[in-house]
Amino acid sequence: MALTTAAPEVVLRSGNARPMPAIGMGTAKFPVVHETTRDAVLAAVEVGFRHFDTASLYGTELPLGDAIVEAVRRGLVASREEVFITSKLWCTQCHPHLVLPSLRESLRNLQMEYVDLYLIHWPICMKPGPGVFPAKREDAVPFDFEGVWREMEECHRLGLAKAIGVSNFTTWHLDKIMAAATVPPAVNQVELNPVWQQRKLRAYCAEKGIHVAAYSPLGGQNWSGEGNAVLESGVLAKIAKARRKSVAQVALRWIYEQGLTPIVKSFSKERLKQNIQIFDWELTEDDLIKIGQIPQKKIVTAANVVFSPEGEFTAVNLSDIEIVEE
Ligand SMILES: NC(=O)c1ccc[n+]([C@@H]2O[C@H](COP(=O)([O-])OP(=O)(O)OC[C@H]3O[C@@H](n4cnc5c(N)ncnc54)[C@H](OP(=O)(O)O)[C@@H]3O)[C@@H](O)[C@H]2O)c1
Repeated sequence: MALTTAAPEVVLRSGNARPMPAIGMGTAKFPVVHETTRDAVLAAVEVGFRHFDTASLYGTELPLGDAIVEAVRRGLVASREEVFITSKLWCTQCHPHLVLPSLRESLRNLQMEYVDLYLIHWPICMKPGPGVFPAKREDAVPFDFEGVWREMEECHRLGLAKAIGVSNFTTWHLDKIMAAATVPPAVNQVELNPVWQQRKLRAYCAEKGIHVAAYSPLGGQNWSGEGNAVLESGVLAKIAKARRKSVAQVALRWIYEQGLTPIVKSFSKERLKQNIQIFDWELTEDDLIKIGQIPQKKIVTAANVVFSPEGEFTAVNLSDIEIVEE
């Protein structure tokens, strides 16, 4: 099968990771259907994706690993080394003694010797136990940033995670990690798209050499049932028409032009193909100004996505774990 598009790559500052392909495929989709996920990853490999995002929470490590084994068997890639794999440590595992065992379990699911990038999924620690989603507010406990990051560094030192980083961290949370780090985080993966541009966080990360990966680059999967402010944006639709591109391509291209890496989920081969075709054309200055003026709106918050609305936070302040900044 011919490879249609190759993505440029980003060199990550810390760690000895292979460079990160400048677009990644997201695999979060609930409920998980093993075959569907595996086939979507294989379709993504066929159209040129080499960067895949999973997490222990998603339950997609196993089908992703199966797909990569199959991609090698079919000769779509020469070996596992040709792909960049990210996984994440869930909140119930954010205790120093659980970090390494959690990564080892992810690696067993992935059938891999290492991940290219291992992220702390949220700046939230919950009582150990099976991950329930949404979580109970009473289960949130204080986060030992120093102890957990020390164990993330151990994962890196052992070569089980080529690079380490964080996700959903604000500048306030990053300050805590930076104060404790010998190996600073290589990546912060956050919600970022034309309707949630995160200027303050991007400026902070640029200054500290932390690469920003953008999840929900197309506005997400309508988790809250409120529609999709990116795909339904009139401003983006006008630009898309003028550039003869889709709204999705305009959003992804804008993220790429900001020096960030979109992590985009599609399980449709046609849309996967479309999503990776963003590297051989440009937005104009005027497009960038118009996108810069889009009213801002965040979708994912700790209070409305991670936790169920009932109950009370008894051991933490919501303000310490909330991720809305700007
Ligand atoms: N770190 C975190 O806390 C976190 C949180 C959320 C997500 N993520 C990661 O980021 C990935 C992407 O984010 P996301 O899944 O929230 O949302 P997204 O990538 O913004 O949007 C995905 C939605 O857009 C549709 N879509 C994809 N390409 C399209 C196109 N060209 N035209 C029209 N529609 C298109 C998809 O449906 P089809 O499949 O039908 O194409 C899907 O419903 C996740 O899968 C996950 O890996 C991380």
